[in-house]
Amino acid sequence: MANQYEHLLTAIDVGSSKTCALVAEITDCGLRYRAHGVAESRGSRKGVIVDLDKAVGSIQKAIEQAEDIAGAPIERALLGVAGSHVRGLNSHGGVPFGTRPREIGREEIRLAVDKARAIPFPADREILHLLPQEFILDDQNGVHDPLGMMATRLEVRVHMVTAASSATQNVVTAVNRAGVHVDDTVFEPLACADAVLRSDERELGVCLADLGAGSTNLIVFLEGAVAHTAVIPIGGDHFTSDLSVGLCTPLAEAEKIKKVYGHAIPTFIPEGNEVEVPSVGDRPSRLIAQRMIGEILEPRARELFEMLRDNLRHSGLLELCVGGIVLSGGASRLPGILDIADSVLRRPVRLSWPTPLARMPSTLAEPEFATVLGLVFYGHRARTARGIQDDRWSSRLISLFARKGA
Ligand SMILES: Nc1ncnc2c1ncn2[C@@H]1O[C@H](COP(=O)(O)OP(=O)(O)OP(=O)(O)O)[C@@H](O)[C@H]1O
Ligand SMILES: [Mg+2]
Repeated sequence: MANQYEHLLTAIDVGSSKTCALVAEITDCGLRYRAHGVAESRGSRKGVIVDLDKAVGSIQKAIEQAEDIAGAPIERALLGVAGSHVRGLNSHGGVPFGTRPREIGREEIRLAVDKARAIPFPADREILHLLPQEFILDDQNGVHDPLGMMATRLEVRVHMVTAASSATQNVVTAVNRAGVHVDDTVFEPLACADAVLRSDERELGVCLADLGAGSTNLIVFLEGAVAHTAVIPIGGDHFTSDLSVGLCTPLAEAEKIKKVYGHAIPTFIPEGNEVEVPSVGDRPSRLIAQRMIGEILEPRARELFEMLRDNLRHSGLLELCVGGIVLSGGASRLPGILDIADSVLRRPVRLSWPTPLARMPSTLAEPEFATVLGLVFYGHRARTARGIQDDRWSSRLISLFARKGA
């Protein structure tokens, strides 16, 4: 008997600051919002579980909220993976077929992709994604889909995203313990791109940077394909701890001050403005110049974008991002951050406002929910591309061809 909840698609994002579950309904007219739940993240830091029981508690809370609103149980979900343990690299492989041209079928593609992925890895790493950039048939490069074409040799260039197996497995285990089966794991910026990037940006060359709480995860698209992925170990929490140390105030107060009075450019803050800052221990609170907050935040913002710039430059991609840089994630909400990004990167920079689902509450149309929204768009696209199959490898191979906008 068909599962009565087959038309529901759930995504879970276990972030460093919030855990979010989003349920969408697949209708004849596309995806529609059904429910969501958000809980403060406990027990996870920078994409890694540090306290399993606490992480399970946060996931359960988010799931229960979503189940209540959805009026349906959440049995399976797509899970986002991110954090400093994720790496990206480009690889290349090919297969010769002899002297006579042969028609390229799925098997030939699979052989070429297998050659490209056959590079040595440390035993504790696993491949999250194998993303073809282009196929080369004999001497003809730039082929997006070689199915049915003739050649004597097939080569493929791929981008591989790998993750520490234990880190990924621990997030999966936490979700399983919260009673949900994980259908697939997806590198978060790859999913986020589905919610915030336009296909012309992907063709032209664009970098999407997800500024989370624990880290900044990035992905670069060139000519429609993934060219680069990386993680920069700075996120919104670093801004908060700088304020906590600089203003001598508890972390929770620093977080509030950052959100209410924070600005990445001190000179944009009127000179006479003052802010009351609670002290640690029993000491009385103090009044400080609001500009001081900007003076603490600006160097951290510069450092973040200098690391991003160096990462892109090192990969030879900075100049190729003609479509500019797109910022998502909660930390991108800091006023003035666009100006700093612009001055360091010298590329057009914009904030991301995720594509909404039909009937979605406006509170979800914010940069910190771009990833969980992207996960449902990604899940829908992969499901459409493969029908409802469950074979992991074949689903991965087929979803390779689910190029957005191609
Ligand atoms: N208005 C704001 N100004 C500055 N920072 C903000 C603002 N709103 C949220 N943030 C910061 O955004 C971060 C949370 O963003 P987000 O929800 O995208 O992170 P996450 O997904 O939980 O973490 P990660 O992606 O690193 O696992 C926090 O550091 C928070 O302080
Ligand atoms: Mg995040």
